[in-house]
Amino acid sequence: MTTDTIFDITRTSSSRINNVDLDNPGFGREFADHMLEAEYRDGRWQQPEIKPYGSIEITPALSVLHYAQSVFEGTKAYYVDGETVNLFRVEKNFERMVRSCERMCIPKVEREVFLEGIKELIKLDHKWVPQKDGNSLYIRPFACAFDPIISARVAEQYRFYIITSPVGSYYDRPVKLTTTQQYVRAVKGGVGAAKTAGNYAASLYPAQQAKKQGFDQVLWLDAEEHKYVEEVGTMNIFFVIDGVLVTPSLRGTILPGVTRDSIIQLAKHWDMPVEERRISIEEVMQAGEDGKLEEVFGAGTAAVVAPVEEVHHDGQSVTFDIEGRGPVGQKFYDAITDIQYGQAEDPFDWITSVKVNK
Ligand code: COI
Repeated sequence: MTTDTIFDITRTSSSRINNVDLDNPGFGREFADHMLEAEYRDGRWQQPEIKPYGSIEITPALSVLHYAQSVFEGTKAYYVDGETVNLFRVEKNFERMVRSCERMCIPKVEREVFLEGIKELIKLDHKWVPQKDGNSLYIRPFACAFDPIISARVAEQYRFYIITSPVGSYYDRPVKLTTTQQYVRAVKGGVGAAKTAGNYAASLYPAQQAKKQGFDQVLWLDAEEHKYVEEVGTMNIFFVIDGVLVTPSLRGTILPGVTRDSIIQLAKHWDMPVEERRISIEEVMQAGEDGKLEEVFGAGTAAVVAPVEEVHHDGQSVTFDIEGRGPVGQKFYDAITDIQYGQAEDPFDWITSVKVNK
């Protein structure tokens, strides 16, 4: 099947690319010329369209606005050379999107539309993939309920979109984290493992409280005992304790991050001791006190590998006198980004290269 038979394609007649500084795009503020849109109605996904990026018309009664039946993904495209753009583990994003759809009762997005849609958008908008080191084209597929009805029920109509946005780094300096005993991100049996809008909405108030106290984000603890570390909301979390890389195990309450998984695979590949297990905040703070907490970093598609400067819990802080990543975080950052930008071998077969016209 050719892409013309999968998608109806309408090209833009006036590119906006000259209005954008691809070296300094910020994050999620600018959008490339084209987007994909597919409608679900009458019990099936209809023929998707690729068309110029632009506003969509919605009714104020639109079900997703009221009941948040919505899922999304985040992946990136990396400039290699004038003829090649790399995608990183995009199948993994598709698999997670399918799991998120299932959990949120959204009809499964079609594999070919997801994967070929991303490739087609990259081919059309390859000039939007920033060439500056560390920058990339962020790809945001999302699906949401589209019934024009105020009713808390599983919707009958949906839309699936893919939009893309040239981005720089998500965090431009090391981050300061604090735990909270008052709020939780996700409960067992809830939706913590799904990439769904409500998880992010629910974290905003606690994050705002944390910011008022001088922190960047909340380091979430488990909902039952407020004892075990979970994740940061914008990224997964890693600790280096006495030479061992430790990250909280997935228990249905943590987002199974693609970067998280890549770091674990790399560590195993390098024979670096790595443990996926429950880790209490007391253990982290004690390791800090004993001088055994060597590094803390976050990992995510947007954040890549983000160094943590402070972990605060219950009136105590462990701080790191750093300006950038520590040696372990830097090693993972370099290995992952070298593969992503086509500057290193890809022993794990993580890369899908898209050939683009100059
Ligand atoms: C991503 O890393 O892709 C995310 O969706 C996190 C978000 C805070 C930008």
